[in-house]
Amino acid sequence: MLRGLFTLAALVIGLLPLLSAAARYPSYGTLQTTTSSGVLNVVINNTYSTINLFDLHVQSDLANLIETLQANDTDIRVVVFSSANKQFFIGHIDVEYFLPGYASPLPLYDPGFPDMLFPVALLWNITQLPQATIAVVEGRTRGIGNEFLMSCDMRFASTAPSVLFAQLETSLGVNPGAGGGMYLSRLIGRGRAFEYVLSSADVDARTAARVGWVNRAFDSPRALHQYVQALAARIALFPAAGIIATKAGINAVSRPAREVIVKEAQDVIAALIGTPAVQGAFERFIRVTNNQSIGPVELNYGEEVGRLFA
Ligand SMILES: *[C@@H]1O[C@H](CO)[C@@H](O)[C@H](O)[C@H]1NC(C)=O
Ligand SMILES: *[C@@H]1O[C@H](CO)[C@@H](O)[C@H](O)[C@H]1NC(C)=O
Ligand SMILES: *[C@@H]1O[C@H](CO)[C@@H](O)[C@H](O)[C@H]1NC(C)=O
Ligand SMILES: *[C@@H]1O[C@H](CO)[C@@H](O)[C@H](O)[C@H]1NC(C)=O
Repeated sequence: MLRGLFTLAALVIGLLPLLSAAARYPSYGTLQTTTSSGVLNVVINNTYSTINLFDLHVQSDLANLIETLQANDTDIRVVVFSSANKQFFIGHIDVEYFLPGYASPLPLYDPGFPDMLFPVALLWNITQLPQATIAVVEGRTRGIGNEFLMSCDMRFASTAPSVLFAQLETSLGVNPGAGGGMYLSRLIGRGRAFEYVLSSADVDARTAARVGWVNRAFDSPRALHQYVQALAARIALFPAAGIIATKAGINAVSRPAREVIVKEAQDVIAALIGTPAVQGAFERFIRVTNNQSIGPVELNYGEEVGRLFA
């Protein structure tokens, strides 16, 4: 009897850290989270959108998640982002956000970083989380979706035809405002960054893996997830201090400087957005994408981009 109670007590005590970790990482609306031995799996599941739009729901949920992760929680050492939508990892930013009359519940500029637009601050914060971050890509990711990927430490993709990467901003008369062109220059080189960003082309996963846009591409989703979970579990064994120190060093040489992102990317797009040309492009974009919903243009933007100019 006594022995049974001890066993039960040991079991409960053994489970406690798991239970408290689960309680500390609830779901954040559009983000479903699960923890397992130091790894937090985050599934981006924007049920308000057919294309996993990076809208205000996703942005505010991510900000809440980041705030928790920034507290240097030693229970979680690796964060793995994936998407519930296998057609869209993250479609792109919600363009409505920039049109007149849009009442945003989020501040335009981050109160904590007053020189940064809220989504720019969000991605900057992801680059320097105390945890290792990995993105698992099984759908299209364009614009800020691709900037989100590059703010993670590592990216792995499936070679499914649904996986396409693009910085599409140039086609709309703007630039990648969170530093997408700058991160890409470092990942894939100056010539390729110009080619893909200026053309706003869709890049498939095999090409992305060949040029260094993603770390590696896998022909089967199972192999993709197995590889990433094994990698995450391995890193999660290591002391948090080592992960934080290593990230700081790699960030110091491989991340564009904060002031360069702010001045040469963010402030540039901020100045362009209000111009009649860009407002017109955004309105046409909303029209041809059928209000940013799943359809020929969102599925095949690289090939359908001409519709913007028809
Ligand atoms: C987390 O660790 C980083 C790097 O050591 C440090 O700069 C930051 O102040 C810490 N944050 C908290 C909330 O302790
Ligand atoms: C996404 O959210 C919807 C609505 O809550 C839910 O039915 C669905 O199972 C979720 N998908 C995943 C993969 O978590
Ligand atoms: C980013 O982190 C800083 C603290 O370093 C905080 O003040 C700010 O509000 C955060 N912003 C977002 C959007 O996560
Ligand atoms: C597009 O969809 C959003 C959310 O579903 C809605 O609030 C908005 O009014 C729609 N815009 C247009 C131009 O139809």
